[in-house]
This record gives sequence, structure tokens and C-alpha cells, in this order.
Amino acid sequence: MEIQGKSALVTGAGSGIGRAISLALANAGASVVVADVDHVGGLETVRLIQEKAGNAMFIGADVSTPKGIRSMFVDAGDVDIVCNNAGIMTGDTPGWPEVSLEKIHLVLNTNTAGVIMGTREAVEILGRRGGGVIINTASVAGLGPMPFDPIYSASKAAVINFTQSCAQLNEWKNIRVNAVLPGMVNTPIIAKTGDGVRPAAWLEPAIAATTPLEPEVIAETVLGLIQDDSKIGEAEVVAN
Ligand SMILES: NC(=O)c1ccc[n+]([C@@H]2O[C@H](COP(=O)([O-])OP(=O)(O)OC[C@H]3O[C@@H](n4cnc5c(N)ncnc54)[C@H](O)[C@@H]3O)[C@@H](O)[C@H]2O)c1
Repeated sequence: MEIQGKSALVTGAGSGIGRAISLALANAGASVVVADVDHVGGLETVRLIQEKAGNAMFIGADVSTPKGIRSMFVDAGDVDIVCNNAGIMTGDTPGWPEVSLEKIHLVLNTNTAGVIMGTREAVEILGRRGGGVIINTASVAGLGPMPFDPIYSASKAAVINFTQSCAQLNEWKNIRVNAVLPGMVNTPIIAKTGDGVRPAAWLEPAIAATTPLEPEVIAETVLGLIQDDSKIGEAEVVAN
């Protein structure tokens, strides 16, 4: 799909990877709907886009609930590209299994149900417009066990399977659904595993063992998945 002149909705666009995807889409000529539960971060992304003469608007959105998803799509209006990117790690707990049931519910509702509901609503909008592209942000964490945050890795494994299961939407509705699977990326989510300033102790060895990618690298892959019409139901790994 040619990005120039299209309209794109990006969730979790107020920070990290979502911000980088939004900036890259705007730079490629799309109007971007920046959606995030964090209004300060979302408005900053819009400012950064407008600063470079791009076209963007912010909508406050909570992807973890049906109500939040529905109102996000009403507010976003007609779009051609949907990036279901918002996600959280379990974070700020001593680690599995010392996690509240409420936190488990929130992680799964944000990372997995948020993506599935976001895809469902996107199919409605894109289908009416004759087709489009959906990109779901999963993670390499979804490819194998993650003993200290199995809720996160399970939530991302589900996104990978779900995305691959959506391949036939291309035949049925001219909608390509793909997933990007980042390795470790230098964004605030890393510190959010701990107290928001320092990462959780269990993540330190993994950080020491790799050089985290910059979010722009993930954004570049996302743009490639949008532009390349041969990419259907792909789960594309971007890792060091
Ligand atoms: N950074 C990494 O190492 C890494 C690796 C693999 C996958 N990912 C995935 O990339 C995506 C983006 O993460 P990031 O690293 O940019 O993290 P981040 O914390 O920098 O950004 C996540 C954004 O999502 C928003 N968000 C959280 N819950 C939301 C909700 N219910 N509704 C709407 N917005 C919500 C946050 O406010 C934040 O702006 C996530 O799905 C994450 O799981 C990140």
C-alpha cells in the first residue's frame, strides 16, 4: 500500500515504538491519529509531527475495554491503516507468580484483547473503504518462555497466533494483517518493569546481554509491512 495520502490510527502512540511509528507514517505522507491513554505523551507526539509539517491529531483512548475501543474508532473516523501497538509489561511486581489477579487481567486485556478488539473494529472501518492494512505489535517474547513475566510472553504469543490466523482477511476483505516482533527496544517500557526509573532486577542480565534497538528501527519495519503487498499474516522479527 502506498502510504502517501492515507490515514492511519496508531495506539500507544504517546511513547516509544508507537511514537516512532506515528512520526514515520507522518513523514511518509499519512495523516496520523495518535491514540493513547496518556494524554501528555500523545499530545507531545502530535506536536513532534506538526513541528515537521506533518498532519496529526490526538485522541484519548483505552484499548483495554470494549467501550474504549469503540469510542476510539468513532473518534478516529475513516482510516486506511491501523497499528494496534499499545502494550504493557506486568511490571512493578516482585515477579511471577506474585502478581495480582487485577494486573493479570489488565495485561491480557491491553496486550491481547486490545489487539483482537482493535482488529475487529478496524476490519469494519477498512472493509467499508475497500481494504487496508493492520499491523499488530507483538514481541520476540511471544516466541518462547519468559519465566519472570509469563503473562507478557503469553499475551504476545497470542497476538502472533491471532495475526497469522487473520491472513485470510486478505482474500475475504482485502485487508492485510501482519505483526512486528521487536526484540529489546530502548523505550520507557523497560524502566516500567521496575519502579519507572530503573528496570526490574530480573531484566538487568538481558539488558546487559544485548544492545537495545532504537524505536525508529521498528517503525521502519512497520512501514515496510504496510507498503509490501506480499506481506500477509506475517510475524516479522526485528531483533539484535
Ligand atoms: N520496548 C521493547 O523492548 C518492546 C519489545 C517488544 C515489544 N514491545 C511492544 O511494543 C509496544 C510499544 O511498547 P513501547 O516499548 O513503545 O512501550 P512504552 O511504554 O514506551 O509505550 C507504550 C504506550 O502504550 C500506552 N498504553 C498503555 N496502555 C494503554 C491502553 N490501555 N490504551 C491505550 N494506550 C495504552 C502507554 O501510555 C504508552 O504511551 C508494546 O505492545 C510492547 O509490548 C516493546
